[in-house]
Amino acid sequence: MLKVCFISMKGGTGKTTLSLLFSLYLANKGKKVLVVDMDPQGNATIALAENKVFDDNGFLKLGMPYIIEAFLLPKVSADRLRSSVLENTLEVSLHAGRVLYLIPNFLESHRYDLHLVSNHAVPVFVNELISCLDAEPDFVVMDCPPYMSSLSYAALFGADVIVIPAEASKFGIVGIELLLSVVEDVIRKRGNSYYNIVIQPNRIKNTKSCTFYLDVLRSRYKDFVALKHIKETVEVPRMIREGLPAFNSATSSTRESVIDAISALLEKVLKRE
Ligand SMILES: Nc1ncnc2c1ncn2[C@@H]1O[C@H](COP(=O)(O)OP(=O)(O)OP(=O)(O)O)[C@@H](O)[C@H]1O
Ligand SMILES: [Mg+2]
Repeated sequence: MLKVCFISMKGGTGKTTLSLLFSLYLANKGKKVLVVDMDPQGNATIALAENKVFDDNGFLKLGMPYIIEAFLLPKVSADRLRSSVLENTLEVSLHAGRVLYLIPNFLESHRYDLHLVSNHAVPVFVNELISCLDAEPDFVVMDCPPYMSSLSYAALFGADVIVIPAEASKFGIVGIELLLSVVEDVIRKRGNSYYNIVIQPNRIKNTKSCTFYLDVLRSRYKDFVALKHIKETVEVPRMIREGLPAFNSATSSTRESVIDAISALLEKVLKRE
């Protein structure tokens, strides 16, 4: 099992998009993937399971807030925790018999943010949650919000690999600098380093400024930077909307280049490139 956390301090860099493309790519290869939506905005949840997880008033019926609630109960039993994780994990049918698993999330999680911290649950949260599953997934993919919260810290504490989707822009680089300083601090606190940390350039345009900052990214962060960047193209959001079929009938060279970059990202995550 490998736990991969998609995180950045800057909003809109592609955390949700890339974590979903990465998960769909793996599921298409027959891997067992659990997507954990760590973001109370719930964008991964909406993309994967909007019609299954909300009641008529728009409140979340199952998912992360209920797991956190169980986790925070005083003297909660292992059985109670286990059944809460199982009840709040959803199987999502993709296409042609392929599935992935999702722990949905939504705004309700905000209610528990300070409680998680004050309960000192943050460093152990992800590993305890995963130990409640019936069978270990091959990959746990965590989609984080664009700020530090108890859930983003929990993801950083529990992850084996960090993927930082990065825009090639001045503010994109500021975001990476800030995140890396937080990551250093988490490494110190949890007492072990990551299997890998990968910076994945995303939304790359054919402009002078983008080319300039892409060069800055590559020269400043060297081996951390993924070999292939992902272009800014309407095909990327379309692929998310279409889901798995988009992976099997890559009808354009643009789509093929996106799948190629995701495949290279996986190799980099696994240190096989
Ligand atoms: N390579 C790309 N080409 C075109 N559009 C993209 C690409 N990557 C992401 N987007 C679009 O950019 C927007 C932001 O992407 P996404 O939601 O994945 O970012 P995020 O980092 O998860 O944002 P947030 O910080 O709000 O969680 C979305 O509308 C998405 O469709
Ligand atoms: Mg997001």
